[in-house]
Amino acid sequence: MTLPSQEPQPERNRVVVLRRRADDRLDWLCESIARNRLLPVPAAERQFVGDGDFRAIGAEFLRHFVRLGGLRPDHSVLEIGCGIGRMALPLTQYLEGSYDGVDVVEDGIRWCAETLTPAYPAFRFHHLDAANGVYNPAGRLDPARVTLPFADGAFDFVILTSVVTHLRRAETERYIAEIARLMRPGGRCFLSLFLVDETARAGLRAGTARPAFPADAAGPELLADPEAPHGAVAYDEDYLLGGFAAHGLRPARPVAHGHWSGARTAENFQDLLVLVRDGAEASQ
Ligand SMILES: C[S@@+](CC[C@H](N)C(=O)[O-])C[C@H]1O[C@@H](n2cnc3c(N)ncnc32)[C@H](O)[C@@H]1O
Repeated sequence: MTLPSQEPQPERNRVVVLRRRADDRLDWLCESIARNRLLPVPAAERQFVGDGDFRAIGAEFLRHFVRLGGLRPDHSVLEIGCGIGRMALPLTQYLEGSYDGVDVVEDGIRWCAETLTPAYPAFRFHHLDAANGVYNPAGRLDPARVTLPFADGAFDFVILTSVVTHLRRAETERYIAEIARLMRPGGRCFLSLFLVDETARAGLRAGTARPAFPADAAGPELLADPEAPHGAVAYDEDYLLGGFAAHGLRPARPVAHGHWSGARTAENFQDLLVLVRDGAEASQ
């Protein structure tokens, strides 16, 4: 029996072959980035964005940005909380559009501006002196009131990897509004973060989650350590998705939950969320 098909068989085969080739090319690129000792990496004592292989983690996320997020080479990218360039570095090997990175740690911005911008002028880095209990305790600006220095609708693709995990509720709400303002209709936002749904909550109750957020937290914001509130923050999934939806940002695909709660098997540690901005055809 033959199945009904909308496209003639040869056309469908051609699309499948082209997709497979693009997938192979992306895998090849990410593997070469992870191995390329000529790509500069900050000295160990300057790295403040977490443990692990700097190039390999960036390359793994580039794969996620393209495959899950729908990033394209011609996009204009904004990275909020770009740290010391762990995501920007692999993007230099992929992106033909533009990249703007913002962070509250001046030394990270300095390293990126001195190391990456001279070789890749379309990659620009901006210091934002907003306070954060972990990363910039003496910051002058209140992150719950901040306006990021870019025009409305300037970006196709916005990245926040492990950043909302260090923002308190009022700060997150402000950043959601800013993200919505800065994205063009149909643009996408890629986040890695801790989202608490029923399965994750079961992990919290069972004591398998790392970070160990409290299972009985009253509000939508869960703090791993109330004494150091910016250290690790999780959010109730429905609350956070509702906050984004109120600004016209809806999931482009189901959340790719990570294994941080200990209640799931997954390759990724944090949850991966891709949102698309209302108002136009999605960019993929
Ligand atoms: C765990 S690091 C992740 C860095 C980077 N996204 C990466 O994956 O390599 C968290 C980052 O968020 C930044 N950050 C904290 N509060 C911020 C804020 N209010 N605005 C922008 N960045 C912030 C920190 O300075 C730090 O670079």
